[in-house]
Amino acid sequence: MAHDQWTAVDRYITDLLVEKDPVLDAALRDSEAAGLPAIHVSPNQGKLLMLMAQSVEARSILEIGTLAGYSTIWLARALPIGGRLISLESEAKHVDVARANIARAGLANVVEVRAGRALELLPQIAAEARDPFDLIFIDADKRSYPEYFAWALKLSHRGTLIIADNVVRNGEVIDESSSDPGVPGVRRMNELIAADPRVSATAIQTVGAKGYDGFMIARVTFE
Ligand code: SAH
Ligand code: DHB
Ligand code: MG
Repeated sequence: MAHDQWTAVDRYITDLLVEKDPVLDAALRDSEAAGLPAIHVSPNQGKLLMLMAQSVEARSILEIGTLAGYSTIWLARALPIGGRLISLESEAKHVDVARANIARAGLANVVEVRAGRALELLPQIAAEARDPFDLIFIDADKRSYPEYFAWALKLSHRGTLIIADNVVRNGEVIDESSSDPGVPGVRRMNELIAADPRVSATAIQTVGAKGYDGFMIARVTFE
């Protein structure tokens, strides 16, 4: 009952406020056709990501966990001319689907999907002489969230927004003995954030077509 209602309200919000978009629809269609799991953010969440990136006037974005590039396209659309997005994805099939979706969205010159395990790619990114990112979206395997957060901080400047998806996990986050294998990673990341004076953070529970979950939102405050 609750889930049906969340889905119906998500549809209401999306019909009202999220512009119809054949390119994003096609990305989801091709993702499903290729057999990828339907674990992308919802349309209204995608638009939220875009609005947050616009709000910090992001010129450079890092995403950890591309899947079919659905959230990637939303985030990349927030970028001004000359802006760049790097997205990390370990599954070769996901990389292929994402690159095709991103090209169809006209974003092939803006987005670079890097293939590989994020914990191997992140040190490479850190070693490249590049400016820190303005927004970092963490959405890959939940077990590695503590490490992803640590890397995100290294790749940030004062004012960078670090957003992590799936931090509530159907409420399992408060259950230390949860059978959800992602819960310990999410809890550990949340504790790291809570203890770190370099970030100011909150988390928000969400319900909708994607169930009951939440976002962690942290603003980097160091000089
Ligand atoms: N951000 C996407 C959804 C990502 S789903 C969206 O909302 O549209 C999580 C993705 O992380 C999956 O595609 C999975 O293959 C990828 N992933 C899992 N472990 C990873 C790792 N160690 N390194 C990089 N990507 C990983
Ligand atoms: C899963 C991963 C996600 O990023 C998500 O938003 C929902 C589910 C998963 O691995 O099950
Ligand atoms: Mg997610």
